[in-house]
Amino acid sequence: MASMFVMCISFLALLGSGVRSDEQGVRRRPIMLDRSGGFTIAGKVIPNPRNPNMTLSCDHGYMEYFIPWRPRKTSLVMWHSSSTQTWQNRFDGGEGFKDMFLRRDYPVYLWDAPRLGRANWACEPTFYVPDYRDQGNFVAWNFGPSYGNFWPDTQFPASNKEAWQQATSARYVEYDTIANIYLQANAAAVAADSRKIGNSIVYLTNSASGLRAQLAVALSNTTNTKAIVSYESYGYVFPDNLNITTGGPFGPLVVPLKQFKKLAKLPAIQYIFSDHRSENFTFLAQARLSAKIINMYGGNAQVLLLGKDAGLKGSTHIAFADMDNAKVADLLDDFLGENELDHYERHG
Ligand SMILES: *[C@@H]1O[C@H](CO)[C@@H](O)[C@H](O)[C@H]1NC(C)=O
Ligand SMILES: *[C@@H]1O[C@H](CO)[C@@H](O)[C@H](O)[C@H]1NC(C)=O
Ligand SMILES: *[C@@H]1O[C@H](CO)[C@@H](O)[C@H](O)[C@H]1NC(C)=O
Ligand SMILES: *[C@@H]1O[C@H](CO)[C@@H](O)[C@H](O)[C@H]1NC(C)=O
Repeated sequence: MASMFVMCISFLALLGSGVRSDEQGVRRRPIMLDRSGGFTIAGKVIPNPRNPNMTLSCDHGYMEYFIPWRPRKTSLVMWHSSSTQTWQNRFDGGEGFKDMFLRRDYPVYLWDAPRLGRANWACEPTFYVPDYRDQGNFVAWNFGPSYGNFWPDTQFPASNKEAWQQATSARYVEYDTIANIYLQANAAAVAADSRKIGNSIVYLTNSASGLRAQLAVALSNTTNTKAIVSYESYGYVFPDNLNITTGGPFGPLVVPLKQFKKLAKLPAIQYIFSDHRSENFTFLAQARLSAKIINMYGGNAQVLLLGKDAGLKGSTHIAFADMDNAKVADLLDDFLGENELDHYERHG
């Protein structure tokens, strides 16, 4: 009986960690879902000041979910500050992290924080001022040093005009204000505390959602969130005992030490930076400082350079949509395995 139990456990462990995505069979394994759907979470119901009988339900977030037939325990919450599309496909339309990790049996959640995408029902007037941003996107996403001038080794499909059009079109308005950072982080914290997205949550973030995910952990009242993996986080949360001043729109964001320490309680935090970034790049320097402070308080945060540390070439700001995103996904497998976040649900 006991040995049977041990056998079962080790069989599960084998399933959990021994399977690598670079085996053809796993990569093309069908996606088997138990269910999918979506729901709103958090938000407010505000009365009409002229007629309190009338209300508006607003400022909630929207969570779309996909639950595998035989799920692992850990939920991957894919969080982007300006386009969930980045998680759905590679730049050329090939497979993105959503399907890659569904094939690996992780429950996947696509998060539209309040006022973004399918959660754009705001409690206050919002505005969209058209601006000529396409060329700026090219440089911000680290496709190259100037518009149209790709890094020679870029992982963006440089000659694919349709890919460029898709990348630059699929954006939402991003409200980079401190009030919005709190609004979005708080809604995510409510979602995490609700258990509606499980009790083992890993946030995958890109750019400005990294800061929001850190704040969500600081605001949360449970330990349901287990890790953050941030691809080029723009902005960091710092404690209020280090003479750091809050600034905007990409941090730093200063919180009470007690809240900050929740980041040190997470089993793991990984700040990932792409290629062609120097150590003095503001957000990389801040990532190193953030990791140092989190670890000083007993946490487990690290910085991973896709170039120097992992040997990838030409990774962009949105590495999980790059042409070599399968390699980026393998690195995430390693992270989840090393931190025991790859276990399966036990079935009775
Ligand atoms: C609000 O509803 C109450 C109860 O139905 C009603 O008596 C009142 O007149 C309503 N107020 C307005 C401003 O419509
Ligand atoms: C956590 O608890 C505090 C104190 O009760 C509360 O004010 C706050 O809203 C809670 N946070 C979340 C995300 O619900
Ligand atoms: C705190 O920072 C301010 C502004 O950067 C600086 O002028 C001041 O000397 C610092 N104080 C301490 C105690 O480090
Ligand atoms: C960052 O470092 C590189 C080389 O080490 C240097 O060329 C560049 O001027 C530096 N940039 C800033 C903003 O300090």
